[in-house]
Amino acid sequence: AALRDLIQRLPKAELHIHIEGTLEPELMFALAAKNGVELPYTDVEAARAARTNFTCLEDFLRMYAAATKVLITEDDFYRLAQQYLARAEAENIRAAEIFFDPQGHLARGVPLETVIRGLSRALAESPVEASLLLCVQREFGAKAAAEALTRAIPYLPKSVIIALGMDGSELGHPPRNFVLAYGEAAALRLHRVAHAGEEGGPSYVREALSLLGAERIDHGIRSLEDPALVAAMVKSQVPITLCPLSNLKLQVYKGQLEDRIRQVLASGMRVTINSDDPAYFGSYVSGNYEWVARIAGLGPDSLAALAANSFTSSFMPQVKQQEGE
Ligand code: ADE
Ligand code: ZN
Repeated sequence: AALRDLIQRLPKAELHIHIEGTLEPELMFALAAKNGVELPYTDVEAARAARTNFTCLEDFLRMYAAATKVLITEDDFYRLAQQYLARAEAENIRAAEIFFDPQGHLARGVPLETVIRGLSRALAESPVEASLLLCVQREFGAKAAAEALTRAIPYLPKSVIIALGMDGSELGHPPRNFVLAYGEAAALRLHRVAHAGEEGGPSYVREALSLLGAERIDHGIRSLEDPALVAAMVKSQVPITLCPLSNLKLQVYKGQLEDRIRQVLASGMRVTINSDDPAYFGSYVSGNYEWVARIAGLGPDSLAALAANSFTSSFMPQVKQQEGE
């Protein structure tokens, strides 16, 4: 309980959170009823139970995509972000850099403007310092990724979008395929991040760094399999956004995850702790800190250092100043 209190009290920033992954079963049912969308579950409890047995990333992504069908109007996106931010505030998260997946919504006929306006309105109202990161979804392919970013250009000047990210199905979709979109992002002066080394091996991390110019690696847990890569990441202090309970629930790491996390923490890489898709993995950010603290035997100083990393790894200049607060 002392550990839990300490984690709760620590000011934190969250840098790896998918807004679609914060869709709790209750809100999913409420929106489904409002919008007349049919769900494959009898009730909230059944939907929650269905979220406990994932065999891999792909398996999870199917359920995650199906659930987003309830998100139709600007207000739906507003409510989604508003709920997450309220939860974040309650956990003493001072800053959040939030991913959204426009291609999935566009494919369902939801305009980009609806998504961005709904999310932006919730962000503007929250005391949490928050911004958006537009993610391209790898399974849609390279050309579609560049097109998705191009479509967002009209919204960039007046929105809180600060970066391009890349998520979705990793295996078979190496970062080198997406140089066009990332080149476009650089030209637009957006920050660049990428999911890499979650299910894919260290070569995905290498490519994200060297070919996409990624300034932060999302997950990155499999970097450990390449000592030269780890050495380079220790030297550059490029942050990695670990999502330990996501890795556990999606079974993406085939060895002993606890050992692997301990090795990552000891490696000297700049590590941050995040929740990824908390409505699916059963824990928000604090739960992820607690699990890591437990398996790695971390005390107050180490936990404070991890929280400090979350601020120094942020792209928001006003947030960096909160470091060590
Ligand atoms: N989309 C939402 N969560 C994701 C994850 N952990 N990996 C890849 N794509 C995602
Ligand atoms: Zn993710």
